[in-house]
Amino acid sequence: MYSLKKCRFCEKPAIVRLEYANLRLCEEHFKQYYVNRIKRILEKHRIRGKLLVAVSGGKDSMSLLHALSQLNDIDMEITAFHIDLGIFDYSKKSREVVREFAKQIGVVLIIYDLKREIGFTVPELAQAGRRPPCAVCGIVKRWVLNKVAYENGFDFIATGHNIDDVSTIFLKALLTQDIYTIIRAQSEFSPSKMDIKLVGRIRPQYYLSEMENRLYVELNGIPVVEEQCPLSMGATIHKYRTVWDTLLKINPVSQINLVRSILKLRKGIPIEEQRLLPCKKCGYPTESKTGICAFCRLIEKAKKTLGK
Ligand code: AMP
Ligand code: FES
Ligand code: ZN
Ligand code: ZN
Repeated sequence: MYSLKKCRFCEKPAIVRLEYANLRLCEEHFKQYYVNRIKRILEKHRIRGKLLVAVSGGKDSMSLLHALSQLNDIDMEITAFHIDLGIFDYSKKSREVVREFAKQIGVVLIIYDLKREIGFTVPELAQAGRRPPCAVCGIVKRWVLNKVAYENGFDFIATGHNIDDVSTIFLKALLTQDIYTIIRAQSEFSPSKMDIKLVGRIRPQYYLSEMENRLYVELNGIPVVEEQCPLSMGATIHKYRTVWDTLLKINPVSQINLVRSILKLRKGIPIEEQRLLPCKKCGYPTESKTGICAFCRLIEKAKKTLGK
């Protein structure tokens, strides 16, 4: 990663070589490049107004929050948002790290305590629903983020997905014939549909790598939670990730190209328009045939099983 060669833009030694862009950069120019990449995505999708930034405490969303706080020339107001999922010490630690950092950079933070707000933690919901914790956690995060953003008048939600996450999701979907994921997986932007209470999403790090996020975190001294969520340890998606080391050596743009290829191919698939209707219980959109969203079904099941 390190080299003694010079930065593309100045005389200083490069500290990083971005293979996919064939670019060597010094510390200052890397930071500028990184923030600019994020800025360009926001400009491309005309993101402005009130932006709710979903921050887990991990390196992706913490670097996203920092970079967004540097963008003074975009007409937007950012608020950090953290969900305390009740995952034992991991959640306690994450909450503290996010709280300290938001204070340090002067960004308003909303904390949503799942146990207090809905009566159950993610481990409890997973146990009651007899489903893998990550699937339950995904349903909860999507619902809570949308509800809080909608009720508080936010124009968009920003999350920290990176190219390593996205390319691995697509790779696994291809290798397991999971066509649903290929068709439905989110791209870098999904627009708001406020008439059905759906707040738009922007994923500004969609084409940035974990390595770039980690470097940005290190160079800016951003505190992050290093541990992985204890509930996601066994998830098979982590095994698929390991193939990229080899593939990226053969072709540094393989991750980006896989994602772009799938997004292009997707355009040719005649997809039935997603029929989103308000959930009969909570009023937020769902495509469920039963008329009750996945989140409300989880809660119902937990109330029955855990008797609350
Ligand atoms: P994950 O679903 O864990 O891959 O996380 C994807 C993105 O969702 C993160 O980059 C954050 O933007 C957001 N996110 C994950 N966990 C939380 C959390 N506990 N609170 C707020 N946002 C979160
Ligand atoms: Fe969601 Fe671990 S953070 S299951
Ligand atoms: Zn330079
Ligand atoms: Zn519902």
